[in-house]
This record gives sequence, structure tokens and C-alpha cells, in this order.
Amino acid sequence: MNDGGMNDGLRLESVRRAFRQGKDTLEVLCGADLDIRAGEIVALVGPSGAGKSTLLHIAGLLEKPDAGEVRLAGQAAGGLSERERTRLRRLHLGFVYQYHHLLPEFSAVENVILPQMIAGTARSKARDRAMDLLGRMGLAERAGHRPGQLSGGEQQRVAICRALANAPRVLLADEPTGNLDPHTADGVFLELVALVKGSGVAALIATHNPELASRMDRVVRLQDGLLV
Ligand SMILES: Nc1ncnc2c1ncn2[C@@H]1O[C@H](COP(=O)(O)OP(=O)(O)OP(=O)(O)O)[C@@H](O)[C@H]1O
Ligand SMILES: [Mg+2]
Repeated sequence: MNDGGMNDGLRLESVRRAFRQGKDTLEVLCGADLDIRAGEIVALVGPSGAGKSTLLHIAGLLEKPDAGEVRLAGQAAGGLSERERTRLRRLHLGFVYQYHHLLPEFSAVENVILPQMIAGTARSKARDRAMDLLGRMGLAERAGHRPGQLSGGEQQRVAICRALANAPRVLLADEPTGNLDPHTADGVFLELVALVKGSGVAALIATHNPELASRMDRVVRLQDGLLV
């Protein structure tokens, strides 16, 4: 099925999401529309509580919208079973969180190899790709270190490599440098942008930093439940 028009990146159509709080309903997303094409990097901004994480979780098929559609790599997620959603996520999505979530008992390179092996890639091929990604992030010398032996910025660089390991169509990042000091954050961020630009992935990156946001191809703002 490929009814997502020409877009093989990410598309959100009239996405709605509300949370019930006792008697009240908090409407977080009220018909959000978004189209991100392959090779395009979009910044997602908006005040705390605007719904950026909610939107990213829905775009990443981790949560379902109350209404509306998410299309990933041209495929609509709405009608899919849980199993099919998982498959779509594995095939086409990379996710970077604010905190890296690396596996502490594995080295950097192993953390980037593992998702590839889960996807069925042979170990030697997975290792080559992992080393290539880590090298491009300036981590060739650190590949054998475990997360606990890396700095915060290095850990987040590894997490970015891991998210791109399976060459996803779509990369989602939720304040990927929010945990780092401003100087380190800038460096990691610029490397992320450079790596994404070269990879042809459609990227949506939530950030509170307007200066970093302005370096992306486009900025979308979450305001009153809509993307403007
Ligand atoms: N599972 C949930 N149940 C109830 N309310 C929720 C739930 N998840 C999020 N919310 C509410 O939805 C709103 C949006 O939350 P969200 O985490 O998406 O904001 P955000 O833009 O990512 O904020 P921040 O910049 O602080 O990370 C908030 O008011 C939050 O309290
Ligand atoms: Mg958030």
C-alpha cells in the first residue's frame, strides 16, 4: 500500500490526542498536520507542556492518536495490528531520547550493532556499519568503551548512531541534547544535523533551543494543539 502521495518520509494528518484528567479533558493535539520529506530536517518547538513528546510518540507509533493518521514511509499506520506497527517501527524508524538509554553492559559499537542484528543483518556487516557511523561521529577511538566510560556528549552521539543504524526513513528525536551542557549540546547537535543531512532520512527534532532550531531546514511550532 502506498497511498501517502509522493512522501516516503513522515506524514501526520489531522492528528488528535486528548488526556482525560478526572472530569476534565486536556486536548493536547487538536488536528496536527505535518509533512516531512526524505532528507528534510524539521525542528519541533513549543513551550513545555505543548505536546511535543506526545506528538513524537504518536509519530513514532509508540502511542495511537484518538483520531487522524500517521503515514510512515508511505504506509498508513492506522489500520495496522500491533505486530505490523512494530515491524513498521523496526524497519523505518529511529528514535533518540533526551537520555541515551544505551545498554550499560555493552560497548558503544555493540550498542549500534545490536539493533541491526535484531533486524536480521549479519554481524560483520552490522559491525562495519556501526564503525562507520561511530567514525563519522568522531567516536572511532571510543567504540570499545561502555556507556559508563563515555562522557554525556559521547553517550548521546552513540545513541544517535544507534538510531540511524538500520538506515531508517524517519528519525525522531526528543530534545536529544537537552541533558548536555550548552557547549557540548551545540557540538552534538551540529554533528547530528550533518549525519542526518547525508543520510536522506526525514527528521523531526524537538528542541527548546531557538538557535539550534534555526539551523534546520524548517521550524514547526506546536501552538494550541496545532502545528504552525
Ligand atoms: N499519559 C498522560 N496522561 C495525562 N496527561 C498527559 C499524559 N502525557 C502527557 N500529558 C499531558 O499532555 C501535555 C503535553 O505533554 P508533553 O509531554 O507532550 O509536552 P512537551 O511539549 O513534550 O513538554 P516538555 O517541553 O516539557 O517536554 C502536558 O500537559 C502533559 O501533562
Ligand atoms: Mg517533552
